[in-house]
Amino acid sequence: MADTERNRFQGAPRQPAAPRPRPEGATAPPPGADPGDQAVARDIAEGIELVQGIRVIRKIADGGMGTVYLAEQLGTAGFSKTVAVKVIKRDWLRDKRALGLFIGEAKLVADLVHDNICQVYSLSRYRGHLFIVMEYLHGLGLDRFLDAHYQAGYLPPFEYSAFLASRVCRGLAYAHTKRGRDGRPLGVVHRDVTPSNVMLDFRGSVKLTDFGIALAVSNQLLAGPGVVTGKLDYMSPEQALAITVDGRSDIFSLALCLYELLTGQPVYDAKDVQELRAQHKRKVRDPREINAQLPEELALITMKALAYNPEDRFQTAKDLGNSLEYYMYRDKWGPTNEKLAEYLQRIFPDIDRDRIV
Ligand SMILES: Nc1ncnc2c1ncn2[C@@H]1O[C@H](COP(=O)(O)OP(=O)(O)O)[C@@H](O)[C@H]1O
Ligand SMILES: [Mg+2]
Repeated sequence: MADTERNRFQGAPRQPAAPRPRPEGATAPPPGADPGDQAVARDIAEGIELVQGIRVIRKIADGGMGTVYLAEQLGTAGFSKTVAVKVIKRDWLRDKRALGLFIGEAKLVADLVHDNICQVYSLSRYRGHLFIVMEYLHGLGLDRFLDAHYQAGYLPPFEYSAFLASRVCRGLAYAHTKRGRDGRPLGVVHRDVTPSNVMLDFRGSVKLTDFGIALAVSNQLLAGPGVVTGKLDYMSPEQALAITVDGRSDIFSLALCLYELLTGQPVYDAKDVQELRAQHKRKVRDPREINAQLPEELALITMKALAYNPEDRFQTAKDLGNSLEYYMYRDKWGPTNEKLAEYLQRIFPDIDRDRIV
């Protein structure tokens, strides 16, 4: 480890372990347990293949949208590839409109292939459930990364926070400008850039997950009181107002994640969308008031990306990413995937980063 890095690490500002508001609703299913969900869970537990060639190994986590499993995709002559499978909760897709939106978006993002995006391999149906087969990431979400820091009582080094956000920018910049086979822009917007959807691979890669699955859900979030409230807090003002959104909405949501990395405090904490709209109207507190050690440049970048009016933000994810990279690499020293992997190993010493399953 370079001396500069050690100094910077040790110099990370100490914060009291902030109890991060993480309502149960953030991971709880929508009301009403579905017997269909239980049947699928049983099939999975008994090792029944979901469709030909996908066999579940174990559950990874219950999430806001469904359950994620570690699985293998089987081929001929013992060929097997490790994948992740997300079985979407049926409650999200009960009505035809939600289902249509979901499938429409999934089709749109099928060809997104980028270092900083978790790749989707296929979308299938099993017992009326939709499930997504995707790249398996041996790592953890930014939510757990933040929690580990809160518990340890310090914040991540600023450079690493800038690095994480800059890598998400690369993924967003690619997706926002992606064109379809006919050459026309697809107009992809993620709509759900939250700490749990930014994953850190233990080898040091940063990947945005759940591209294209938020559209159907965001409609229900806006309609229903308090469902998955953890996600509400990362919506942009225009999203909360149900106005048409573009890539600048994702920039705002990413900046909320960055603000939290830099200060240890989430910007918004709303129980429903009305409260969130009211909170959006308030001026965002300068992050240097919370953390006096924060470099001015990084604070200004974050605040610009958090402008209420999309016109006043960085206009593209590329611009935001460039500003972060300029900040990080100006001294000819800066984080890399390898350094992030070493840092993760220090924070999570028990993890075997080479072990896949
Ligand atoms: N491709 C993947 N590989 C490995 N783990 C994953 C993958 N996608 C999601 N996970 C894990 O499963 C959890 C639940 O995912 P998700 O349903 O998207 O819930 P959330 O609402 O927390 O985003 C995530 O927090 C993450 O830890
Ligand atoms: Mg997710």
